[in-house]
Amino acid sequence: MTSKEIRSAFIEFFKQKQHQFVPSAPIVNKDDPTLMFTNAGMNQFKDFFLGNKPAPYSRAANSQKCLRVSGKHNDLEEVGLDTYHHTMFEMLGNWSFGDYFKQEAIAWAWELLTEVYKLPQDRLYASVFGGDEQDKLPVDQEAYDYWKGIIDEDRILLGSKADNFWEMGDTGPCGPCSEIHIDLRPQDEIDKTLGRKLVNQDHPLVVEIWNLVFMQFNRQASGDLHSLSAKHIDTGMGFERLAMAIQNKQSNYDTDVFSPLIELVSQKADVRYGDSRETDIAIRVIVDHIRAIAFTISDGQLPSNNKAGYVIRRILRRAVRYGYTFLEL
Ligand code: ALA
Repeated sequence: MTSKEIRSAFIEFFKQKQHQFVPSAPIVNKDDPTLMFTNAGMNQFKDFFLGNKPAPYSRAANSQKCLRVSGKHNDLEEVGLDTYHHTMFEMLGNWSFGDYFKQEAIAWAWELLTEVYKLPQDRLYASVFGGDEQDKLPVDQEAYDYWKGIIDEDRILLGSKADNFWEMGDTGPCGPCSEIHIDLRPQDEIDKTLGRKLVNQDHPLVVEIWNLVFMQFNRQASGDLHSLSAKHIDTGMGFERLAMAIQNKQSNYDTDVFSPLIELVSQKADVRYGDSRETDIAIRVIVDHIRAIAFTISDGQLPSNNKAGYVIRRILRRAVRYGYTFLEL
């Protein structure tokens, strides 16, 4: 499947399950003082989760342009050095606003990954929230039991609050989550080290692809959790990582999302991608950052010397610095 086909298969799958397609919100966030940029597909639905506004539909799906370069979710310094983080990325998501909950979210995620995208079942792992003393929250046994009905227990892992409790920011909607990870290593490496040992260990080929969040709470500025009036689903799948898995690549940058840009930068720099670690990193930094900057500017945020504009300027400068230092551009 091409990346375009992967994206449309996601939307179609959820449309068939009565989800309303909702276009991506702008990447620049002007309505929410807790955020500079859209950092997750759920941002535009925040008021529906909190019960501040009634949702006009009970189910939605989309592909959201996200930027994770400031605040709670900030990946900027990793980008380019590894092969699976980005400043801007697309998040494929499906949502339930007080409608279906854990059982359907888990079953549909599995169906889409294994039956539509045909990812191999024996390469997939699921993690479940293992509870947290400080927040007085128990293990998410319900999610564990739904997974147990689908996969062997040795493919289910319990995770800490850092990995398995998702929060939009310091305050706001949040809840326990269940992540799906994929092991893309060659078989001989898998024979040596089991994939479950590498989940959440920053291995470039054992990566999280989908996060299913069970929205149940609103985090207060005091740190307390208040229960929401209804339970919701908020999922986010990394489109570029999914493309790597489906296209059987070892890096997000080897998929058709990035390869035309890589080709262009390599030609301009007269350097072959793959020839050296330093120039490869510089090429990845440039192709990632130029995408982020182009989409952000076209969504209304120019580079400037303060606030959100300064964040964009810093991304631009990082690309320039790598190009100048390592590619003589
Ligand atoms: N909102 C969740 C995330 O960003 C799905 O991971």
